[in-house]
Amino acid sequence: MQDLRTVEFRDGNLILLDQTKLPLREEYITTKDYERIALAIERLEVRGAPAIGVAAAYALAIGYSLEPSEESFNKIYKRLEKTRPTAVNLFWALEEMKKVFYQHKHSKELSELLLRKAREILHDDIEKCEAIAKNGLKIFHSKLNVLTHCNAGSLATAGSGTALNVIKKGFENGLVNHVFVDETRPLLQGSRLTAFELEKNGIPFTINTDSTAAFLMKQGKIDCVIVGADRIAANGDTANKIGTYNLAVLANFHRIPFYVAAPTSSIDKNCSDGSEIKIELRDKSEITHIKGIQITKENYDIYSPAFDVTPNSLITAIITEKDFHLPPYNF
Ligand code: MRU
Repeated sequence: MQDLRTVEFRDGNLILLDQTKLPLREEYITTKDYERIALAIERLEVRGAPAIGVAAAYALAIGYSLEPSEESFNKIYKRLEKTRPTAVNLFWALEEMKKVFYQHKHSKELSELLLRKAREILHDDIEKCEAIAKNGLKIFHSKLNVLTHCNAGSLATAGSGTALNVIKKGFENGLVNHVFVDETRPLLQGSRLTAFELEKNGIPFTINTDSTAAFLMKQGKIDCVIVGADRIAANGDTANKIGTYNLAVLANFHRIPFYVAAPTSSIDKNCSDGSEIKIELRDKSEITHIKGIQITKENYDIYSPAFDVTPNSLITAIITEKDFHLPPYNF
């Protein structure tokens, strides 16, 4: 089984696998510049809730080491928190860094301590991915056909993934027959990234357009759906890639279990329910153009939320590194 190196810190640089180029080209961004890392988050060159958190933690640590003052720490913090609003892991990781900053503000080792914290967040994520996969094995009562949406694999984390790691672990244990991959419009994280990871892991898969999911379920080809999360409210309502809510409704209608897998760093206890989760709106060019080719008229009105919220009532279980949580959810 092979994991991709999504985010790595080496010789003072952050190295990011440029996910906008996958699966056709494997190119890396190597930088010490926090502004370049902020742009990478905004452009989805690095993406997926846990990976964004890790990249932001390193951006803050590297940025501070080059401009060591409280003023620059706050400036970099503010820049990074503006990159993407929905994945709570970004804010969680920045907050963890801030705690270290204020605890050791007068220490000569502050730069090193911040880097150490970023490394800890990365390693912690690797361990959480493993624990999620182990806890997720509970979903397999027999060999299953699984449907997933977006990418919640190694590319979305520092480790082996969340929802996709449950699938990988299930496959290793002979419990996954086939994976159906929603292509995930508009940026195609499914057909580009999840497919790429499944290929690397030798797991049989088929890509389907998002609108094919209902028909697949109707034909009895899907035994369960498993997805990741960008932010889980205290009551279990879950924000994830746009189209996730559609799948949950469809799964419910067809009486198919619908699972969410995510680290506890994706839980936001400050949001009592999903209505409090801020949903990112993306640029209209992501709909009017595909890979720079214009496909519809520029003057047409576009609505492009990056995420939607699935109500807790449609979620069969939420799998974290700590537990296999069953409803009613109360985080
Ligand atoms: O816009 P993206 O590609 O960052 O969205 C990612 C997702 O929606 C993932 O499903 C989620 O972050 C979980 S990743 C383990």
